[in-house]
Amino acid sequence: MKLLITAGPTVEPIDPVRYLTNRSSGKMGYALAAAAAKRGHSVLLISGPTSLEIPEGVDYLPIETAEEMYQAVAAQIGKMELAIFAAAVADYTPAKVAEQKIKKSGEEMTITLTRTKDVLGSAREVMGFKGALIGFAAETENVIDNARGKCLRKGCDLVIANDVSRRDIGFDSSENQVTLVYPDREEVLPQDSKEHLAFHLMEVVEDLAES
Ligand code: CTP
Repeated sequence: MKLLITAGPTVEPIDPVRYLTNRSSGKMGYALAAAAAKRGHSVLLISGPTSLEIPEGVDYLPIETAEEMYQAVAAQIGKMELAIFAAAVADYTPAKVAEQKIKKSGEEMTITLTRTKDVLGSAREVMGFKGALIGFAAETENVIDNARGKCLRKGCDLVIANDVSRRDIGFDSSENQVTLVYPDREEVLPQDSKEHLAFHLMEVVEDLAES
């Protein structure tokens, strides 16, 4: 199967030396890409900057900003049968990137941010993607309700939800505990290493893509 995976954080520049980013390590998306390649799929990994090695046998497309992520996905998704959106894409980006390093002046400063495009939320209606669509939802409260809302709103077949208020799992950790949230049901999976979990998740999404 041909599949696209987004992973890692995005990096939104403020000026030549500063940027806005988030705590995504990319581990879950990279583990999924590695598992998918080992299971014989053709994998394109579109990723923001991480400290991880590119998994063997995976095609790699580096991006930095949310806009670059959007453009890269829009250009590639038409060829794919399955798309998994594990990236932590910035929801807002500085309205203007200063050409020169911003000098300090008053006691306070304000940076105006504007909304970025929702890459996953554009896959169906804007990009016309017809394959199996899988999102992630990083939540700190009402995990299942919030994840189901995202699943329905963004036209996903499955949203993999995790509770990022737990410090032992998620973002920078090597373990994760997720709940599979489908449009009409959910299934809680046991806590596991991101590598084991990635293999199991690939089995789940392969079944979805074939059904
Ligand atoms: N996502 C995306 N592009 C964005 C924001 C999110 O592709 N600009 C994708 C993520 O990769 C993830 C899913 O949407 O698969 C959910 O991301 P999340 O940040 O939890 O959801 P948001 O829609 O941004 O909702 P909110 O910030 O209101 O919780």
